[in-house]
Amino acid sequence: MEWWQTGIVYQVYPRSFQDSDGDGTGDLPGILARLDHLVRLGVDAVWISPIYPSPMTDFGYDVADYCGIDPLFGTLADFDALVTRAHALNLRVILDLVPNHSSDQHPWFADSRARRNGRADWYIWRDGASGGGPPNNWLSNFGGPAWSWKAGRNQYYYHSFLPTQPDLNWRNPDVVAAMHEVMRFWLRRGVDGFRVDVMWMLIKDARFRDNPPNPSWHPGLSSHDRLLPLYTADRPEVHEVVAGMRAVMDEFPHRVLIGELYLPIEHLVTYYGQHGNGAQLPFNFQLLLLQTWSAEAIAAIITQYEAALPPGAWPNWVLGNHDRPRIASRVGPAQARVAAVLLLTLRGTPTIYMGEELGMTDTPIPPAAVRDPAELREPGKGLGRDPERTPFPWMVGPGRGFTTGTPWLPFGADTPLETQHQDPGSMLELYRRLIALRRANPALAVGMIAAVQAVGQVLSYERSSDGVRFRIVLNLSGRAMDASGSGTVVAGTHAGREGTSLHGNWVLQPNEGLVLLQAPQ
Ligand code: NOJ
Repeated sequence: MEWWQTGIVYQVYPRSFQDSDGDGTGDLPGILARLDHLVRLGVDAVWISPIYPSPMTDFGYDVADYCGIDPLFGTLADFDALVTRAHALNLRVILDLVPNHSSDQHPWFADSRARRNGRADWYIWRDGASGGGPPNNWLSNFGGPAWSWKAGRNQYYYHSFLPTQPDLNWRNPDVVAAMHEVMRFWLRRGVDGFRVDVMWMLIKDARFRDNPPNPSWHPGLSSHDRLLPLYTADRPEVHEVVAGMRAVMDEFPHRVLIGELYLPIEHLVTYYGQHGNGAQLPFNFQLLLLQTWSAEAIAAIITQYEAALPPGAWPNWVLGNHDRPRIASRVGPAQARVAAVLLLTLRGTPTIYMGEELGMTDTPIPPAAVRDPAELREPGKGLGRDPERTPFPWMVGPGRGFTTGTPWLPFGADTPLETQHQDPGSMLELYRRLIALRRANPALAVGMIAAVQAVGQVLSYERSSDGVRFRIVLNLSGRAMDASGSGTVVAGTHAGREGTSLHGNWVLQPNEGLVLLQAPQ
């Protein structure tokens, strides 16, 4: 088994984790100084959202140099020191790779615009439609057309996101080779893996066909959702691109390729590739996309996902990230504890988004403090991502131990780490106990999953390996529920349950989740 199968990934949004120089924005020396938190929590790898030189129009997802560090975050020497320290602590380091688009400030784009240095076709350039206007109807994920006109070159270029984020042309072998070299640059520096940004968008239709209208669109949705992204995402040729990346990863031992993929299960699992030549962990966002947080809905996705996995594929689960409302805001603080038990007892690599272990909630951002382009371009639709990106509260006090300056986003009202640290009933301690249990028990870390069922609002399943069997019983509602079965409670959301034995019929408290160790049969 590889570390990325047995282990747990922790996502750091670097602007908001720890500031070391008082400018109000987190940085690499800050992350280094806080690695002990990750060790005490018990995770195995840290995925850091982009830290490359960037004009920050999309907070680092607009890369101006793939092989550097933005001065805001530090230097390459800071990065090397972070990797060295992390490895000494037995933590792996995963970088965000943003291959779909660069910043318009990247020298490659300047070359492409000027048709020089052989880079004329490194981006997706098209003439306008014969009657004038953009080449087709494709829309940007951040609102408005996905095509912008470039004077001088006198053509349109395609951008899945902001006009400052032109899409690279992955049909050009020189682009493929250049990005593979970028990957090797970091892999040689000791990086243990990549999380590939918008993996499913890397190739667009070669014939540039119009996307069809979305019959279920309504004004509450983003303007991008007016069309179905039939020709701009999840194209069959994308799998060659992913296989090419995977081949680069395989030049180095024990590295992991993770893909960001917002896709339904049947499409998602195709990103494992043919005979496993794709991503090792195509991110499974089913729990994050779930419309109804119910026992029945969760049982259904576990069963469907497990059944859809190709032979040899390793599962994974995610509750949140820097792009989506936080779990504690989506399901409420009591159910967020149940969600923690779920995430850390399912079969498959869990990814924790920083702050989930504190039960952090979305912070309302006053209009004047909004930073996210998704909100600024389409205000008032709830598309903004600042609420889930607020700085990590380490301790009480004006700067929360995060900064001595003014934080780049306001702090929320969440209970800081140091306060939770002293409270056995806190979310932090629940996460620690669950992670320790998972680490100590192969049945939970890598064992099989069986007997997935929903009875009313009670979700239950079993995890087992080598004759050791756990039964997980989760109450997805705020009402007491009847449950049955026997075993010793080894972890749970509610005080006083751990260490007790249960037999026959018993009652699960509102919002209660339990992990039972069953007697050998
Ligand atoms: C997905 C990233 O997670 C998100 O933050 C970003 O805005 C887009 N990709 C564009 O890179």
